[in-house]
Amino acid sequence: MTLLDGKATSNTIKDELTVAVAARKEAGKKIPHLAAVLVGNDGASMTYVNSKVKACERVGYKSTLITLDASTSEEQLLSEIASLNANSDIDGFIVQLPLPKHIDEQKILLAIDPAKDVDGFHPMNVGKMALNLPTFLPATPYGILELLKRYQVETSGQHVVVIGRSHIVGEPMSILLAQKRAQGNATVTLTHSRTKNLKAITLQADIIVAALGIPEFLTGDMVKQGVTIIDVGITRVEDDSKKRGYRLAGDVDFASVSPKASFITPVPGGVGPMTIAMLLKNTLQACENRD
Ligand code: GUN
Repeated sequence: MTLLDGKATSNTIKDELTVAVAARKEAGKKIPHLAAVLVGNDGASMTYVNSKVKACERVGYKSTLITLDASTSEEQLLSEIASLNANSDIDGFIVQLPLPKHIDEQKILLAIDPAKDVDGFHPMNVGKMALNLPTFLPATPYGILELLKRYQVETSGQHVVVIGRSHIVGEPMSILLAQKRAQGNATVTLTHSRTKNLKAITLQADIIVAALGIPEFLTGDMVKQGVTIIDVGITRVEDDSKKRGYRLAGDVDFASVSPKASFITPVPGGVGPMTIAMLLKNTLQACENRD
């Protein structure tokens, strides 16, 4: 069993980005600048956004964090987005999801300038992604492709089972892995909450991407020997033995699945850090596109 070490791999990518930024600086070019908008005070979202800002510092980017009250209106958020679109110093920005219930997520994503949409969530960029045209790939699926690439996990002709059809992970992941591309050419089955007899399907999988958000859902009896496991889940589970009162659990029961796996991502330290590294990569791309 080989651990797909997202922490180490993301550090390698960040080192590569640091070199690229230093070269830009040396050449008198603009330093990439990422902005993040956080609405409300959800604990997990605050952690993620802070990690994104910290990662910018690490590679030498400029970053701007905009925190808005949970009661912020849709109109106020749209006006914030309009000013980020217009700000020529900002190369890319993200609006952290989920948003409070009173805000229409699609309306917000549609307002982001597609050229600055480094999350790849704008419908125009989703369309380009689906057509395999150059665009910003959503950071989590992009990070998974990169991890598979750097560990030379074969995807061509393999049966990939994706569990979960979210717009952020499952859906784009299923599209990308089926495409004619380096980490693609897979036979993909996209499964979800209405799927019947899921276990019969996961038992046929060469690669499983678990992205449903239910802690320790995938167990050893559901996978075949030699499977590759990508665990996207990261849920806070109450745990009084921890100082902070919770532990982080993936969608995979690591204890029962890992003995059967040839490759597996840990949680934490697997997909999570890769997501941040690829967001930084997209931000550099956005900056280069504007040169
Ligand atoms: N919420 C969970 N994952 C993501 C992500 O990749 N980007 C944004 N903006 N919000 C998220």
